[in-house]
Amino acid sequence: MSKVTVVGAGNVGATCANVLAFKKIADEVIMLDVKEGVAEGKAMDMNQTAQLLEFSSRIKGVTNDYAATANSDVVVITSGIPRKPGMTREELIGVNAGIVKSVAENILKYSPNAILVIISNPMDTMTYLASKVTGLPKHRIVGMGGALDSSRFKYYLSEALGVNPTEVEGMVIGGHGDTTMIPVARLATYKGIPVSDLLSKEALDKVVADTMVGGATLTGLLGTSAWYAPGAAGAAVVESIIHDQKKVVPCCVSLEGEYGQNDICIGVPVVLGKNGWEKIIDLKLTAEEKEKFEASASAVRKTNNVLKEINAI
Ligand SMILES: NC(=O)c1ccc[n+]([C@@H]2O[C@H](COP(=O)([O-])OP(=O)(O)OC[C@H]3O[C@@H](n4cnc5c(N)ncnc54)[C@H](O)[C@@H]3O)[C@@H](O)[C@H]2O)c1
Repeated sequence: MSKVTVVGAGNVGATCANVLAFKKIADEVIMLDVKEGVAEGKAMDMNQTAQLLEFSSRIKGVTNDYAATANSDVVVITSGIPRKPGMTREELIGVNAGIVKSVAENILKYSPNAILVIISNPMDTMTYLASKVTGLPKHRIVGMGGALDSSRFKYYLSEALGVNPTEVEGMVIGGHGDTTMIPVARLATYKGIPVSDLLSKEALDKVVADTMVGGATLTGLLGTSAWYAPGAAGAAVVESIIHDQKKVVPCCVSLEGEYGQNDICIGVPVVLGKNGWEKIIDLKLTAEEKEKFEASASAVRKTNNVLKEINAI
């Protein structure tokens, strides 16, 4: 019996819980929120789709009742405020740091062995915060950003190529920010063929640029940040962990010398399995890609430093 808790039953959290149940990724899904009745109501609504969508996973919603989350295998943290049009993910830090810290502490009281998947923004800094305040072994803290950004990258590639998105491979590494993420165009392929053989430089540059502002584009259209792809990306990360699928997914993890970095959580390709992130894939970056990675790490570090300024760590 697998049990997953999703903290925050807002747009991203509820979508993630829905995908976890619908795709039968977890047998039991707990949604927890601070807003009285919201998680309960959304869980009831989702359970009423079980016969229509043919799943037997059970979803339970609770208001701040951490005892109900006990013995979760994986806990997804989405609680916090999302950005509004014109805001950067970094502007959310003050409010979300307090929320992520208290949620992580409460969760571990009841699920001391859980693997944490951090989604709240600014995600790289919230993952770093979670690793500092919980002191958990590094493999049990996984930040979700690259799974979403890579999915957006593959979508834009498939549109430019006019092909099935499931047949496109591509990875986004680095920070999860409009200017910090690095879609690695050189390694993107369609059925094993480098996309650079199939698209003009201009078309590929546009795909990269569209990917980087993918979140901001949606925030502009929706008035708040997106949720279908973020929720599904969170569920995909959980799936590889819970089912020990050993999939390679770019995730935000703590680096100790890999990619030339220390004391930082940032996006790199990792193998996801039952122990959390199990192995870092060491991409042989070009000098230009390395330079971008270093610039990305510096920007993430700058945001991490705010945690010290506000005494969150
Ligand atoms: N990492 C990513 O790829 C990614 C993608 C999209 C959104 N996000 C981030 O995810 C977060 C959630 O976004 P959203 O659109 O679902 O927002 P939302 O406002 O719809 O939902 C957030 C929920 O968190 C709840 N909450 C607040 N404090 C809480 C606490 N202490 N305990 C439990 N629940 C609490 C709120 O009541 C709300 O229901 C934001 O920080 C957003 O920026 C990250």
